[in-house]
Amino acid sequence: MVEKIRWGLLSTANINRRVIPAIRMSARGELTAVASRSQAKSDAYAAQWEIPQAFGSYEAMLESDAVDAVYIGLPNRLHAEWSIKAMRAGKHVLCEKPFALTLAEVDEMTAVSQQTGMKLAEAFMYRHHPQTKIVGEWVRNGRLGDIVLVRSHFSFKLENLANVRMIPELGGGSLWDVGVYPLSLAQFVMGGAPQQVWGRQWVGASSGVDESFAGQMDYGNGRVAQISSGFRTPFHTWAEIIGTNGRLTLNRPFIGLDERRQLLFYHPDDTIEEVRVPQQELYLGEIEDMHAAIFDDQPNYLTLAETRNHIRTVLALYESAQTGRVVHLA
Ligand SMILES: NC(=O)c1ccc[n+]([C@@H]2O[C@H](COP(=O)([O-])OP(=O)(O)OC[C@H]3O[C@@H](n4cnc5c(N)ncnc54)[C@H](OP(=O)(O)O)[C@@H]3O)[C@@H](O)[C@H]2O)c1
Repeated sequence: MVEKIRWGLLSTANINRRVIPAIRMSARGELTAVASRSQAKSDAYAAQWEIPQAFGSYEAMLESDAVDAVYIGLPNRLHAEWSIKAMRAGKHVLCEKPFALTLAEVDEMTAVSQQTGMKLAEAFMYRHHPQTKIVGEWVRNGRLGDIVLVRSHFSFKLENLANVRMIPELGGGSLWDVGVYPLSLAQFVMGGAPQQVWGRQWVGASSGVDESFAGQMDYGNGRVAQISSGFRTPFHTWAEIIGTNGRLTLNRPFIGLDERRQLLFYHPDDTIEEVRVPQQELYLGEIEDMHAAIFDDQPNYLTLAETRNHIRTVLALYESAQTGRVVHLA
């Protein structure tokens, strides 16, 4: 067993710039390679980020012995294909959200992980942040009483039709891109998938993807989540968790270190208490979690069962938006 996990970046995606410092700051990881569809692009990227090895195809990196784990920041449509190829080539995989676009893909990825023994996880970085863990503790230890409602939103303005998020064939759309954050937070708080969902979308005439989405999820026993996402309105991310003994509000729950990030507890008498949250680099947790899975054989903190519920719920919401009907999850 190597002493450090040697990471390879599968593509020169924009998001890499957040993950690279986390790999470098982790105790048991190092960044050894990048792969791109073009050798020239890969070379330039490796030089810019001081990465030792640059591969001119994804296949070449997967064939190499210089990499133990890959980080997949490809367009959504390619997540399943390359996660499976990577695991079959003997690489552990941290795959960006959304993990896949169909349940068949999720199930195949999970089966290949089991067959090959390669670790596999969805890269939902905020789930590993201390703020989200505090929310989880407060929900589970009953501090908020019975949870009645989760409301959450994530939007930013996007007008560039060439962006991967605007291309239906690549798995574009605001629910797939940013709506999955509020959705996954709701599942985390409610402890599973909803019983039924209702969704409404606004599909751009030029893009053909949902440029805004609103959904309601019914978890039974009077527990409901309302989520929204979009590319049409300025940057905004926020969440509120309302229980019978008070509520938590999370200002900017899904983004990195920011002095405006705040977790507030509203007591039953409406007095406000700021909950102290330890600072932690947002992307470090998902990397350390992979190291614990690989070196210590610990189960990944975000389980593939949770991931399956994310995808199941997104698909049901899209079905509801397309049919105009409430969709019941089996
Ligand atoms: N967790 C987070 O905070 C976060 C934030 C942003 C995005 N994401 C996720 O990360 C993924 C990538 O997002 P991004 O904004 O980084 O995307 P991006 O900058 O467009 O990068 C995607 C990369 O995929 C490769 N690629 C392969 N086939 C492609 C194709 N047909 N069209 C375009 N690119 C192709 C390209 O790399 P080469 O040219 O080098 O091959 C490209 O650089 C998405 O799944 C997104 O949901 C996560």
